[in-house]
Amino acid sequence: MDAITVIRAKRDGHALTPGQIDWVIDAYTRGRVADEQMSALAMAILLNGMDRAEIARWTAAMIASGERMDFSALPRPTVDKHSTGGVGDKITLPLAPLVAACGAAVPQLSGRGLGHTGGTLDKLESVPGWRAGLSGPEMMEVLGSAGAVICAAGEGLAPADRKLYALRDVTGTVESIPLIASSIMSKKIAEGTGALVLDVKVGSGAFMKTLADARELAATMVELGTDHGVRTVALLTDMSVPLGLTAGNALEVRESVEVLAGGGPADVVELTLALAREMLDAAGLPDADPERALRGGGAMDVWRRMIAAQGGDPDAPLPVARERHTLPAPASGVLTRLDAYAVGVAAWRLGAGRARKEDPVQAGAGVELHARPGERVTAGQPLLTLHTDTPERFPAALAALADDAVVIVPDGPGEPGPGAAP
Ligand code: URA
Repeated sequence: MDAITVIRAKRDGHALTPGQIDWVIDAYTRGRVADEQMSALAMAILLNGMDRAEIARWTAAMIASGERMDFSALPRPTVDKHSTGGVGDKITLPLAPLVAACGAAVPQLSGRGLGHTGGTLDKLESVPGWRAGLSGPEMMEVLGSAGAVICAAGEGLAPADRKLYALRDVTGTVESIPLIASSIMSKKIAEGTGALVLDVKVGSGAFMKTLADARELAATMVELGTDHGVRTVALLTDMSVPLGLTAGNALEVRESVEVLAGGGPADVVELTLALAREMLDAAGLPDADPERALRGGGAMDVWRRMIAAQGGDPDAPLPVARERHTLPAPASGVLTRLDAYAVGVAAWRLGAGRARKEDPVQAGAGVELHARPGERVTAGQPLLTLHTDTPERFPAALAALADDAVVIVPDGPGEPGPGAAP
């Protein structure tokens, strides 16, 4: 077998054989297929697709490239969730402790930011002292003591995906349904969770821009999980507007803590509870009451234990960016659009995300929203505040928010203004 034959087969629109798939994944993991050959193959897959049998075999080969974890000794049922990525998507932070507070064990392997989308590990690293990298025994220890753990996947888990994911990120081959589905599911299946809830995002701020694509991605992942004995369900949720009122690392941790304290923006609370119900159902705990665990402080207790068990100080003040720039509403009227992709790119440009893989992120950088679509605003009132340590980044963030990223439909001449008597 050789790489060129495999690349040519996919380039010419053929289905890869099981033997070709097993060989190419194994040889790439061992460094016997070069990065440039794998990028050519990834591009051919992005352009020509893979059928369900190819995706299943590709996923199985990625799982087989590394070790598998085993949580079967835990006394509680395990359940995990995965979001396909969005702007302001901090849901994992309140969700994992909430589901643990309701009786499940939540082994949450998470990732870093990708492009304009934020990453759970980057967010949590803004908590002073918190560590993302845990050994297998450390992960089990936190899971046992706190009920939930959020950490990076270990080196040995689906190493083929680790290499391929980094390659896709820099070769324009991220947005492929077979490659996304196999990447996510290989890690989740190798992780050994008993149940999995997928939050498949759709809209401008997601990788899937259309409902049809999001549906196909969801169906592909559910089939992969089910075939591997993981109870898998998927929700399709909107990502045309950022979630909550913040996009950025420490900003999102602050908002998540507000949710755990019983407050926070309604859309974040609603999605957290909806996903918690799905997770508890999938874990075989349909009678648990996540609303009570959230309002009663049980979720906050788990959060504090989980953060402390990973070296973090839940009481330490969160980092704050050195510079701020506030954008006022240009007119009075109803805010009808605040585009998730534009806000995500602005946060990324401000330093919340990376330009290159090895770049550090700024803990305090990001965008704060002072109004959400559907709300009435008054000309001159603060609409968005940009946060960064490096003010030379403001122009690039402002450019991302130009054009039609923000739309206010002005009041008609006879309409009542804000606060006017009816
Ligand atoms: N998350 C992953 O883990 N892989 C992808 O390809 C996309 C999102």
